Amino acid sequence: MARSNTRYVCQACGASHTKWSGKCDACGEWNTLVEEAVPESAPKGLGRTAGAGRRIDFVDLKGVSERAPRQISGIAEYDRVCGGGMVPGSALLVGGDPGIGKSTLLLQVVCSLARTLRCAYISGEEAVDQVRMRASRLGTAESAVALAAATNVRDIVASLDAADAPGLCVIDSIQTMYVDTLDSAPGTVAQVRASAQELIRVAKRRGIILVLVGHVTKEGTIAGPRVLEHMVDTVLYFEGERGHQFRILRAVKNRFGPTDEIGVFEMTDAGLTEVSNPSELFLAERRGDVSGACVFAGLEGTRPVLVEIQALVAPSPLGTPRRAVVGWDNGRLAMVLAVLEARCGVAIGANDVYLNVAGGLRISEPAADLAVAAALVSSLTGEPVPADTVVFGEIGLSGEVRAVSQTDVRLKEAAKLGFEKSLMPTQRSRKTSGRGDSGIQRIELAHLEDLIPMFQETRSASSGRGRE
Ligand code: TYD
Ligand code: MG
Repeated sequence: MARSNTRYVCQACGASHTKWSGKCDACGEWNTLVEEAVPESAPKGLGRTAGAGRRIDFVDLKGVSERAPRQISGIAEYDRVCGGGMVPGSALLVGGDPGIGKSTLLLQVVCSLARTLRCAYISGEEAVDQVRMRASRLGTAESAVALAAATNVRDIVASLDAADAPGLCVIDSIQTMYVDTLDSAPGTVAQVRASAQELIRVAKRRGIILVLVGHVTKEGTIAGPRVLEHMVDTVLYFEGERGHQFRILRAVKNRFGPTDEIGVFEMTDAGLTEVSNPSELFLAERRGDVSGACVFAGLEGTRPVLVEIQALVAPSPLGTPRRAVVGWDNGRLAMVLAVLEARCGVAIGANDVYLNVAGGLRISEPAADLAVAAALVSSLTGEPVPADTVVFGEIGLSGEVRAVSQTDVRLKEAAKLGFEKSLMPTQRSRKTSGRGDSGIQRIELAHLEDLIPMFQETRSASSGRGRE
């Protein structure tokens, strides 16, 4: 039977189909199948390759492997997210929305690293002059970075596979690269996958650190997404709200380090500057005793980060009230609202609810539950959460406030920034509330119900006293 020499590849998940259809069977996305020619060198099955395979030599697990030192760029926020510097021979993928600042960040990294390591920057999107102009705007035009504008992977591989190859190579971006043996257009799954494969192969062989820039598609995944993510050693996302000057670099996968670290940067005219104390930055615009706001003592990786959580509860003119959330999970907000209503008798149901994490940070920790609940109750009653108080704790479905990890780290950071009290879960080891090593007064809550009287108490205590 004659074999069809085209296939249909899903641009979202990379699955290959023999027939076109409107919906990808593998991932369920619609209109993502694109026709592609089957490459000549498609695997023909083991039986037809050049005879039996070669025996592989097994070695003992116990043994010494020579480890090359990590390459430290000197940009501490970047190095920490990479797990303490980049590992020679590793492949990194830096993803993010177009225009978020990936090229700027990586140009700053290579310029800084160029002092100790030979670095190359290959741009497929910008001309050499444009990159030069950017470097001079960043004040790093004097750095010894090898620069090129190229998109043909064959040429790039030939240049990297030489004795004088650089120690690090940035490819900006992988969506512009193409392998000339494939018919499909640059940016399709087949091209992205083949280009990345070729580049990673040569980088591993030569011990080059390969940094691939990948644009995120409108669906929020790196185009040709999963296929690239499992090919590289490290996946970093560069993200931020467009209207904010903060940018956050987040490790989503790292074979050489932890994956929950973030690096915080601030965008300026002269490029990205590091923010070594993000809490100060996120709390900079905070106004004292305002109702509906409270400070959450969170953790991002190993680092404590204090952010303000703002809630607005307003009567709704609509039959189905609005729920709008920025920076937190919609489903978790619904849960906190339901627990408040069912377990504590706080009826918010008929109101519109807006929730915002100030500063453009996105929080994924369940420990923010209690802070969200406090902000909601505060907005509903009009009573502010005291300005000197931080809040954290997870809420269970029966309304119990559950312990969270790293209490001491959170409290220390709060103390450093001048906070005096903390609303938090009951500590198993220390039953009585009091001041710990951090000097912060611990107000421990066992159940979400315990939170409600605090606002009523403040109301009666503060009546007759003007708001600050
Ligand atoms: P760019 O690095 O080109 O984004 P990406 O490579 O992710 O598409 O940055 C986009 C624009 O923002 C560019 O015009 C430069 C500007 N920019 C600054 O002015 N300052 C900064 O700190 C950053 C990161 C970007
Ligand atoms: Mg760019």
